[in-house]
Amino acid sequence: MMTQFGKRRGIVLAGGHGTRLYPLTKAVNKHLLAVGSKPMIYYPLTTLMLSGIREFLIISTPQATPQIEDLLEDGSKWGISIHYAVQAEPKGLPEAFLIAEDFINKEPVGLCLGDNVFHGQGLSEQLEKAASIADKATIFAYAVRNPESYGVVTLNAKGGIVNLEEKPQNPQSNLAVPGLYFFPGNVVDIARELSPSPRGELEITDLIQHYINDNKINVSLLSRGIAWFDAGVPRSLLDSSMYIDAIESRQGIGVACPEEVAFNMGFIDKEQLHRLIYPIKSTPYGEILSHTFGLRRR
Ligand code: TTP
Repeated sequence: MMTQFGKRRGIVLAGGHGTRLYPLTKAVNKHLLAVGSKPMIYYPLTTLMLSGIREFLIISTPQATPQIEDLLEDGSKWGISIHYAVQAEPKGLPEAFLIAEDFINKEPVGLCLGDNVFHGQGLSEQLEKAASIADKATIFAYAVRNPESYGVVTLNAKGGIVNLEEKPQNPQSNLAVPGLYFFPGNVVDIARELSPSPRGELEITDLIQHYINDNKINVSLLSRGIAWFDAGVPRSLLDSSMYIDAIESRQGIGVACPEEVAFNMGFIDKEQLHRLIYPIKSTPYGEILSHTFGLRRR
């Protein structure tokens, strides 16, 4: 596969069943639902863009992949490159790396789950740091009230991993592992060695465990100034929408707008940005963008 930009690749995994959002997800793929004023998939995409990645593969269901492609196109207007691939059945997160083997081409890769929303102070720096490490994996840890719903990581005093468990009944810490991971270029080989768990899926915790066993992993603690939502259940879909709307309407600054992130990251210049905003300037989304850049007509 031809690559135009830097080496690090980014994957947004946007398939799955979306059962927990039924009936919202009966006819519409979860990642096309609204979070605030924009489709959910804008959030994982811009999260990976903030780490400096410009080369993307989006993986989704046979039905939704063409719809997501209608929405995001080839990324060129945002100074990035977006490829698409289909996951026939949701057989687990690590399958993304098997599907993406040619795309990854043995280079380091970031994976963001399509329903994960991140925002807040210091996030970009943490992402850029994680993406700059090529020979080790990076996972993140985030303090939550209900760790038993997530992968849970327990750390020692030096920040090293003591253990990692998937949805434990008795969690040993309150640190959940969000759906954002950076892996070295050998991730495909390691994913290929995994066997399905009792629930019949390849498990991301098993993949991460390989890097823990080899002592080739860092954990980056997300501070309390950062918000993280897994928008895959009705309550968090609503909470994340209200959170994003509160920030955008109070500050008048866009969150997770690819146009803005592309400009701030230097992927497009001011003239390209103006050309993107002009046709949509009278929409609420365009107004937020115009306001962010002081382009509002008086
Ligand atoms: P989940 O939320 O675990 O699964 P889901 O989206 O199918 O939802 P539900 O549990 O309500 O049925 O998946 C996390 C994210 O990863 C989500 O954005 C969908 C995506 N995903 C895939 O694309 N393929 C997969 O094989 C799996 C397991 C998840």
